Amino acid sequence: MARTTPRVFSGIQPSGELHIGNYLGAVQNWVALQHRYESIFCVVDYHAITVPYDPRELPARTRELAISLLAAGIDPDVATVFVQSAVPEHTELAWIFNTITPIGELERQTQFKDKAQRQESVSAGLLNYPVLQAADILLYRADTVPVGEDQVQHLELSREVARRWNARFAAPPDEPYFPEPAPLLTPTRRVMGLDGQSKMSKSMGNTIGLLEPPEDVWAKLRPAVTDPARVRRTDPGTPEVCNIYHLHRAFNPPETVDLVATQCRTAGWGCIECKRVLFDGMERTLGPVRARAAELRADPSMVDAALDAGAAAARRIAQETMRDVKARMGLAPAAPL
Ligand code: TRP
Repeated sequence: MARTTPRVFSGIQPSGELHIGNYLGAVQNWVALQHRYESIFCVVDYHAITVPYDPRELPARTRELAISLLAAGIDPDVATVFVQSAVPEHTELAWIFNTITPIGELERQTQFKDKAQRQESVSAGLLNYPVLQAADILLYRADTVPVGEDQVQHLELSREVARRWNARFAAPPDEPYFPEPAPLLTPTRRVMGLDGQSKMSKSMGNTIGLLEPPEDVWAKLRPAVTDPARVRRTDPGTPEVCNIYHLHRAFNPPETVDLVATQCRTAGWGCIECKRVLFDGMERTLGPVRARAAELRADPSMVDAALDAGAAAARRIAQETMRDVKARMGLAPAAPL
């Protein structure tokens, strides 16, 4: 029962092209974690359908996201990567957790309130979104969940679900069946959009796509907002208030970052020169990711094989958990196929 290596689970929605904010804020961290933890990464398409979407577009989005994850360095020989809807135990466990979760707790979730406000009609699925998230994590009895700040409340709910289920169905002298999953906050500072105003996000239209061609990246970077006090080329700037400077810190080595800071403070460089240096740094990271994505697109069987193997591995764990959970709850075991 005791695992030697802690297990990590995280999920990402196929709700649009992966951008550098997602990359720096989540995926890059996953790539590092996969070598230290037993890692399970999931493209959460069942979450994506809780808001209006186009079923004709979803398969391509799911696939493109999987390609992006693999291209970014998630290694399917090291980590388990799969698509949520390929493992039906996620929704099965979510149903069970729905029965022990007070509606009031779900209504209090800030993300629900935000999303509900933007919708004409709010589905029960949107309300129950965090219950499905708890099921995602607890199905694998994961210890640790790498997420950003915005998911801390959902994680707290997952821990409460674990506690509540354990109290009711895994009575002492049993050890708690579900561990309480701890968030592992991403070390990167949150990535602001090109407007320098709000967090980088698809809905704000202020993103740079992880796989965007270099010309497009430059076309977006060139007019991006810098230190607003730096009006003329000869005005000295304050790197710390400039979003471009923070991107340098994410993409360039410390020596370059120091040089950038000095050149900004002394007006040695203009903002365009500074952005050129950022662009070169970004290309060193993003160029190889793009190349790898092109290879994966050219060989769909590689992606299919990785996702199929990932789903099979995930399912083995998921079925075992469901067997335990159903037995403890007095429910019927799954029929043999
Ligand atoms: N709600 C998460 C997000 O929007 C996505 C997600 C779904 C998730 N299930 C998860 C994250 C399980 C971590 C663990 O970012």
